[in-house]
Amino acid sequence: MALTGQVAIVTGSSSGIGESIARRLSASGVKVVVNSSKSAASGEQIASELADSIYIQGSIAADGFAEELVTKTLERYERLDILINNAGTTRVIPHSDTDQATLEVWREIFEVNVFGTWELIRQARAALESTGDGKVINITSLAGVRPTGSSIPYASSKAALNHMTLLLAATLGPKVRVNAIAPGLVDTPWTADWDQIRTNYSKTAPMLRSAKPEDVSKAALALLENDYITGQILLLDGGFSLRH
Ligand SMILES: NC(=O)c1ccc[n+]([C@@H]2O[C@H](COP(=O)([O-])OP(=O)(O)OC[C@H]3O[C@@H](n4cnc5c(N)ncnc54)[C@H](OP(=O)(O)O)[C@@H]3O)[C@@H](O)[C@H]2O)c1
Repeated sequence: MALTGQVAIVTGSSSGIGESIARRLSASGVKVVVNSSKSAASGEQIASELADSIYIQGSIAADGFAEELVTKTLERYERLDILINNAGTTRVIPHSDTDQATLEVWREIFEVNVFGTWELIRQARAALESTGDGKVINITSLAGVRPTGSSIPYASSKAALNHMTLLLAATLGPKVRVNAIAPGLVDTPWTADWDQIRTNYSKTAPMLRSAKPEDVSKAALALLENDYITGQILLLDGGFSLRH
């Protein structure tokens, strides 16, 4: 299925996985709305390098921003085919340190990863449905599937997003397909100083390496192009969880 001419919003696409997805979609002929909450210069730069792309700054957790993002996309392109919910946040807290994982931390993480993502899907639904094959991909995490990850609130937020993916896929078909990609360790600025974890990963995973952002964007393209796939949580961990 050709994606040429379609329109995508990729949240958190000034860096890492989101940037790679934005670039790959653009190379496939998709018009991409690049987004980030703070890094405006990088976002503007990436959008300027992609054909017919715009950058819209704002946090997906900010009041009213989800509606603004969809409205501005429709004003510019008059359609929305693809929503990639990639923006996310965490706090690195050892799982045993329950004192540090305060309700404030839980709220901060859920505001972005769960509530912000939900609100964007809610605002985008009508436009996605009107294309007849709207597509949502949530970037979740291995941490949402197995008892691992940078903190318990983060892992729980990704588990919520995985389940939301299944519930929405069951609800929104056939007009909208909803899938998730749950990566293990990916080499991005987010994990730049996770050297010990990366070394362990490279020894343990059957694929003997952590993922590159391009591994995730290739998987995203495959899910988008196959119009029979919905309700899947694609564990993209190089087999790490088989041995860990
Ligand atoms: N790297 C990994 O090992 C890994 C593994 C599993 C899952 N993931 C997931 O993959 C996603 C991307 O992570 P990454 O590793 O590519 O990180 P990254 O390189 O740090 O990129 C994160 C992107 O999200 C943006 N962002 C953060 N909060 C935002 C918000 N509230 N609203 C809009 N944009 C926001 C950031 O820009 P601003 O800071 O300017 O907003 C940036 O563009 C996250 O959801 C993460 O949980 C990553």
